[in-house]
Amino acid sequence: MSASGPDEFIPVNQPVLDGHEREYVLRCLETGWISSEGPAVQEFEHKFAARMGRAHGIAVSNGSTALELATKVLDLPTGSEVIMPSFTIISCAAAIIRAGLVPVLVDAEPRTWNMDVDKVEAKVTSKTKAIMVVHIYGLPTDMEPIQDIARRHDLRIVEDAAEMHGQTYRGRPCGSFGDISAFSFYPNKHITTGEGGMVVTDDGALAERCRLLRNLAHSPARRFVHEELGFNYRLTNMQAALGLAQLERLDQSVIRKRRMGAYYNAKLRDVAELELPPSKTDYSENIYWVYGMVLSDKVRLDAAQVMEELQRLKVGTRPFFWGMHEQPVLRKMGLFKDERYPITERVSRRGFYIPSGLGITEEQQGRVVAAVKQVLRVRR
Ligand SMILES: Cc1ncc(COP(=O)(O)O)c(C=O)c1O
Repeated sequence: MSASGPDEFIPVNQPVLDGHEREYVLRCLETGWISSEGPAVQEFEHKFAARMGRAHGIAVSNGSTALELATKVLDLPTGSEVIMPSFTIISCAAAIIRAGLVPVLVDAEPRTWNMDVDKVEAKVTSKTKAIMVVHIYGLPTDMEPIQDIARRHDLRIVEDAAEMHGQTYRGRPCGSFGDISAFSFYPNKHITTGEGGMVVTDDGALAERCRLLRNLAHSPARRFVHEELGFNYRLTNMQAALGLAQLERLDQSVIRKRRMGAYYNAKLRDVAELELPPSKTDYSENIYWVYGMVLSDKVRLDAAQVMEELQRLKVGTRPFFWGMHEQPVLRKMGLFKDERYPITERVSRRGFYIPSGLGITEEQQGRVVAAVKQVLRVRR
């Protein structure tokens, strides 16, 4: 996936793999360490966890399985409620439901699209046992109020930092705030292993449980004897090798992303039809995992129509997440009946993101900006 020419399609994401990736992956092939048993897996776990300020890292097959393990190993009583954002990916609700727990939703706040922390406490009941925090698109959730609520109500925190490698909240790494936290290494992330994920925690017992369940829950006393049903959520040595090379460049990737975001901000600032992401809050500077935007109410088109036009102009886009309370699969389970989350509903219909991967060039960004302006002007 190299940079495109002036008339070529601009994909929504292009990973950058031009560091030690080839060398480290080739070493796996040369040494025969291709399964999850190779040395790169542990090295990646140690180095990644350390970078995120955590004691333990457990590498897994993707971010969804990382969330699933993280939630499950908390071992909360069946039927307990877990507060989570309505505006997020299905993996969050799936992790809660698969652990036998009940998701309880909180709407987004309109500026950062993160869970509105002022609405969390009203959702706490005697059944609430945890809060799942999800940092959305580039700015972290405001963690201090969440930590305060968790302390006062004795709740655990699961932190979904899937999009947040290299981001900080008040100077502390995202991924260091949960009792247990999860990352994804999908190719649109700041660190990719193709597919992959990591659970991080400071709690040795939780880490041990994750390791056990990740690998089929073989009994420690006798392989192929099982006290419980585990999963095969292992990451391969080749993927970990890729991750090690990517991790070396994390600081540069963050700089690159911020430069990308600053360019779009500067060029689109005056487009009244768009609500752009804030470049910073009082606790964080945007890392622009993706560069998202919301159509202002004066635009007659919805995001799907604008995205279709951009596609015609050879600009890749993705829609925003779709609210959990509007997910057919969850509604069929009887969840969220008659619940409304107006901010989530608005941004899921009016929001989309434009090409913002690490591999994007300034020339491509210029074409994206021109295309966005063209689509919006045509319709004015
Ligand atoms: C917030 C969030 N959580 C979880 C995931 C799931 O990660 P994966 O695609 O690696 O399963 C993603 C994926 O993009 C995500 O954005």
